[in-house]
Amino acid sequence: MRQYSRSAAAAVALAATARAANSTSLSSVCTVANVQAALPANGTLNGISMIPSSVTAKTATSGSTDYCAVSVSYVHTGTTNEIELNYGLPSPEDFKNRFYVAGGFGYSLSSSSTGGLEYGAASGATSAGYGALNGTTIDEVNLAGNGTINWDPIFMFAYQALGELTTIGKPLTRAFYGLDDDAKIYTYYEGCSDGGRQGMSQIQRYGDEYDGAIIGAPAFRYGQQQVNHLFSSVVEQTLNYFPPTCELEKIMNATIDACDALDGRTDGVISRTDLCQLDFNLTSIIGEPYHCAAEVSTSLGFNFNKRSDGTSTSYTPEQTGNVTAEGVAVAQAIYDGLFNSAGERAYLSYRIGSEFTDGETAYDNTTGTWGVDIPSTGGEFVTRFIELVELDNLETLDGAMVRYMDTLQTTLPDLTTFQSSGGKLIHYHGENDPSVPTASSIHYWQSVRSIMYPSLSTSKALDQMKEWYQLYLVPGAAHCGRNDYQPNGPFPADNMATMIEWVESGIQPTGLNATVDAGKYDGEVQSLCQFPKRPIWENDEWKCESDKEGADTFYYTFPAFKVPIY
Ligand SMILES: *[C@@H]1O[C@H](CO)[C@@H](O)[C@H](O)[C@H]1NC(C)=O
Ligand SMILES: *[C@@H]1O[C@H](CO)[C@@H](O)[C@H](O)[C@H]1NC(C)=O
Ligand SMILES: *[C@@H]1O[C@H](CO)[C@@H](O)[C@H](O)[C@H]1NC(C)=O
Ligand SMILES: *[C@@H]1O[C@H](CO)[C@@H](O)[C@H](O)[C@H]1NC(C)=O
Ligand SMILES: *[C@@H]1O[C@H](CO)[C@@H](O)[C@H](O)[C@H]1NC(C)=O
Ligand SMILES: *[C@@H]1O[C@H](CO)[C@@H](O)[C@H](O)[C@H]1NC(C)=O
Ligand SMILES: *[C@@H]1O[C@H](CO)[C@@H](O)[C@H](O)[C@H]1NC(C)=O
Ligand SMILES: *[C@@H]1O[C@H](CO)[C@@H](O)[C@H](O)[C@H]1NC(C)=O
Repeated sequence: MRQYSRSAAAAVALAATARAANSTSLSSVCTVANVQAALPANGTLNGISMIPSSVTAKTATSGSTDYCAVSVSYVHTGTTNEIELNYGLPSPEDFKNRFYVAGGFGYSLSSSSTGGLEYGAASGATSAGYGALNGTTIDEVNLAGNGTINWDPIFMFAYQALGELTTIGKPLTRAFYGLDDDAKIYTYYEGCSDGGRQGMSQIQRYGDEYDGAIIGAPAFRYGQQQVNHLFSSVVEQTLNYFPPTCELEKIMNATIDACDALDGRTDGVISRTDLCQLDFNLTSIIGEPYHCAAEVSTSLGFNFNKRSDGTSTSYTPEQTGNVTAEGVAVAQAIYDGLFNSAGERAYLSYRIGSEFTDGETAYDNTTGTWGVDIPSTGGEFVTRFIELVELDNLETLDGAMVRYMDTLQTTLPDLTTFQSSGGKLIHYHGENDPSVPTASSIHYWQSVRSIMYPSLSTSKALDQMKEWYQLYLVPGAAHCGRNDYQPNGPFPADNMATMIEWVESGIQPTGLNATVDAGKYDGEVQSLCQFPKRPIWENDEWKCESDKEGADTFYYTFPAFKVPIY
């Protein structure tokens, strides 16, 4: 305690000197004493007790950028489990009054604390109290034993760890550089997939901490999303037809070929899955021949579970055949989505033309037959998070949703705190995402609109919403990246530049830059359309048009549930 006070005094003097000189070297601020003095005092952040003796601070280099690598631990007041934070703070001359939080991926938090350096931002990463800094994932620690949920790590993973990383990090950053307590620190979040879900958790629960969030293909609505990975296998089981991998691939390829030109340009990309769904009938593929060479392949699984690794190697024989009516029926049912036994819709699915990743079958070399291959993405969620329940029973979705409603579900639709404190949201999603359904994002965006603008007409609500929340679909794109099967599609690469302009200069985006990096249009920069506007190629350029019938193909309701699904 005494030592801490001395350090604080030293740092206050140092900070005053820094302000006076208006420039400071990295080595003079990157000291244990300066960081200890910069910690929020116990009692100032409710529920957080910092441990000054845990502080380390040393200059480090990332690429060619010098920064200060800080580590500090805290406990939740009155408890003993220490949570470790790493912060990466740029040199004073590089610091642009910014704080940056990056998302992780399936079941993991980001462990990198240097992602902000390129933007002149301090950034951080957290152990979340369960070793997330050393790569421990939530599915390794979510059970204390059979039947016992370890709620602390689940809450931390769901939203709390990142929220605390930010609420501690911002005052620490201000004091580290000797800024006033009320100095503006522009705070950004960026992440995709579960990193997108993590970002949604932040603007839903810590809305006034973030100025800008860039959120890709969020794996939220957890109770539905994770179980949905099993849906394709359930379709195959129910229809009792396990399409050879080549047949499913052919159905996808033929769909891409048939729908490519509907957007006005033949470039190998379905930019309008809505027109494809409305104008193209998968049954027209029946009878088309397919051929694939034998191959030893690694599964395209999402690799959720490190213990079983997810990327299993499998052998597929040479396959020659014609697309069957049964194969098309499976494909159509997968794209249609989940209904309960009363025929009421329970969930939405992947857009037409998407890869059938979840529906990939397995070849049995000894019997020469195709069978079900349960994706570990969904399978593990059921075993470890819900525990062996009937797959096609709607109770399953209900149960998962209710159990994790206040943690992993992450679909609170009221973003008023974020919006009213000036927050901006860029939300994007690949239109042929085969892992998190595109319409899942649209459903949430719709929920926010209906909850926040209940009495406005659709067009008035959309006008107001785009001032702070913009949704972009990325033509042809897969899950958080380009699509191997539509490689000529655009993908946004520089979202932070757009976001920084919006937040710091008030330049509201009218589109989102996305670059083509293959094919005839290599190098083209497309300005993606703000949903519900849809892209159309006319007079040699991309335009964004209103097409109500097209947009309507993205909207779903879920009468199978008695409670609202946001
Ligand atoms: C704040 O509380 C923590 C946990 O009780 C304790 O370890 C730490 O010493 C306290 N900090 C100060 C400055 O007293
Ligand atoms: C990671 O950290 C946690 C918590 O500190 C620890 O229990 C675990 O053994 C560590 N794992 C590895 C692989 O180092
Ligand atoms: C937990 O349950 C599974 C499935 O019933 C069983 O295989 C496993 O042995 C159990 N583990 C322990 C530690 O009891
Ligand atoms: C599908 O198209 C890809 C090229 O995008 C090709 O490599 C693959 O062989 C095709 N598969 C079938 C079954 O036609
Ligand atoms: C596709 O064509 C089949 C066979 O003609 C028909 O039964 C089915 O209703 C059509 N589907 C759609 C979505 O129009
Ligand atoms: C595929 O269909 C063609 C006729 O369209 C037929 O000649 C061929 O035998 C069929 N192939 C298989 C494997 O059924
Ligand atoms: C599968 O069977 C084929 C033909 O019998 C054989 O050549 C191949 O090695 C087998 N592959 C595996 C992975 O067992
Ligand atoms: C978007 O692309 C256009 C055209 O290439 C370019 O002028 C503009 O600076 C880009 N905007 C951002 C924010 O990168």
